[in-house]
Amino acid sequence: MEKYYITTAIDYVNAKPHIGHAYEKMAADVLARYHRLLGKDVFFVTGLDEHGSKIEKAAKQAGIEPQKFCDQMAEEFKKAWKALDISYDYFIRTTEKRHYKASQEIFARLQAKGDIYKSSYTGLYCEGCEDFIRERDLDENGNCPTHKTKPRSLSEENYFFKLSKYKSAIKEWLQSNKDILQPESRRKQVLNQLDDPELGDFSVTRSRTSLNWGVPVPGDDNQVIYVWLDALTNYITAVGFPDDKVMLEKYWPADLHLIGKDITKFHSIYWPAMLMSAELALPKHIYGHGFITVEGQKISKSLGNVIDPLALANEYGADAVRFFLFSCTSFDQDGDFSKEEMIRKVNADLANNLGNLLNRTLTLVDKNCDGLVPEAITNETLLDQAKATQIAVIEHMSNLDFSRTLESIISLIDKTNKYLNDERPWDSFKKGKTQEGQIVLYTVLEVLRQSAILIQPFVPNIANDIWNQLGFDKSLTELVSTKEMDKQLDPTYRIKPGQKTNRQGPVFMRIEEQVLSS
Ligand code: ME8
Ligand code: MG
Repeated sequence: MEKYYITTAIDYVNAKPHIGHAYEKMAADVLARYHRLLGKDVFFVTGLDEHGSKIEKAAKQAGIEPQKFCDQMAEEFKKAWKALDISYDYFIRTTEKRHYKASQEIFARLQAKGDIYKSSYTGLYCEGCEDFIRERDLDENGNCPTHKTKPRSLSEENYFFKLSKYKSAIKEWLQSNKDILQPESRRKQVLNQLDDPELGDFSVTRSRTSLNWGVPVPGDDNQVIYVWLDALTNYITAVGFPDDKVMLEKYWPADLHLIGKDITKFHSIYWPAMLMSAELALPKHIYGHGFITVEGQKISKSLGNVIDPLALANEYGADAVRFFLFSCTSFDQDGDFSKEEMIRKVNADLANNLGNLLNRTLTLVDKNCDGLVPEAITNETLLDQAKATQIAVIEHMSNLDFSRTLESIISLIDKTNKYLNDERPWDSFKKGKTQEGQIVLYTVLEVLRQSAILIQPFVPNIANDIWNQLGFDKSLTELVSTKEMDKQLDPTYRIKPGQKTNRQGPVFMRIEEQVLSS
């Protein structure tokens, strides 16, 4: 069976998750569910980055031990991901014992290769980035352009990694195939960075005098491993490095590292260099998605526009949030979140369009066919459109083009609603033209079956509900987990005549406009 190992960035635990963190985890979840539908052996990993100066500082401010602080925050993240139906297979935390072992092992391998040396360095360090920043990259106020905070001057003796040794190999790798790093704009940017002679060796440890909260450097009690080296290693810890050779062999290299645009350099330059040095395979794909803004503004505590994804899921349901974010933003670009837009969009597409189609059809089936799926005579024009939709979905999903994927599905639903309106099966039944009416209802039920499958990765609850109302005895989720999707995805498969449908009412309730003013 083909495997699919997908990872997300691991979030810093210095604050609770916001909508931007949630967006990335939902995207990875959509992909994980999609690849499970295709019958793959999916391993989906997300988790937390728990070391480094800003976490040490946040714990101190909260007046608790760093480990305890991380434990509490981990619960916040897990709660939010549960509410948003994030179906991860493993939740990794960098404070796990086995991860300490993996980080130390990686460090030791780079050292054994002769790629680590000691040197001193003075520079400006941005805590938000957990990285040094050059004077000329600061904004006009002398702040980090991403975090809008002043970096501090740092002067230490550290261990350095010989990135310079791997720069040309990384360049060749990124040029060997356009698909390795996407989107293309990000790949161009990274290739430019690689041409910059100033991009050189980087420090892979911090002195204990300035940072205590980290993985100890093997053989040197005065240093801890740099948080980025520690964090990137999570991707191999999660699949058993260094001890579980069977698991590692099975899942590594990752099929996709899904990350935000701000951390592309770490994933497509630092990480592959470390892997090359440790003689491990390189990831197959890296994708740097765009950022979510809130009503046009960058998400930030000082602007007070940090949207709590847990509250959002509790108020509107995971499906609404997921559907909106992936239909209204282009995944490679920045996209905006607004509650008003979300309500408008989900009311239109999920309640009025999809939900209504199912409800009207099942009401007609109840009234005219005793609630049973009628004889299998079909309207081929509409089913050809359904087939074309499936082909389009596969194409768009392979490009991580979520908005076009959803657009294709919703457009099929639109056409099907129109077909129902134009054909007026209720008139056919009234006039005794039973077969004409049955053709329409059978065709629409079959389109609904196919649409439920296609839309399932985005709105798993609605899809399960449609599936149940169509009268299938196993749930869609269950079919996927028992790898029984093959039959259902076969282009010649059709919903069985005589199957007892199970109308339950709307699969998605309109979100009332009152919410807008509350
Ligand atoms: O960078 N919209 O953690 P992090 C979309 N620990 N994505 C966003 C976003 C927004 N507004 N804000 C942040 C780190 N992200 C490191 C990663 S991986 C080995 C270590 C994304 O908590 C961001 O781009 O700052 C990143 O992919 C993820 O959220 C975690 O960000
Ligand atoms: Mg960040």
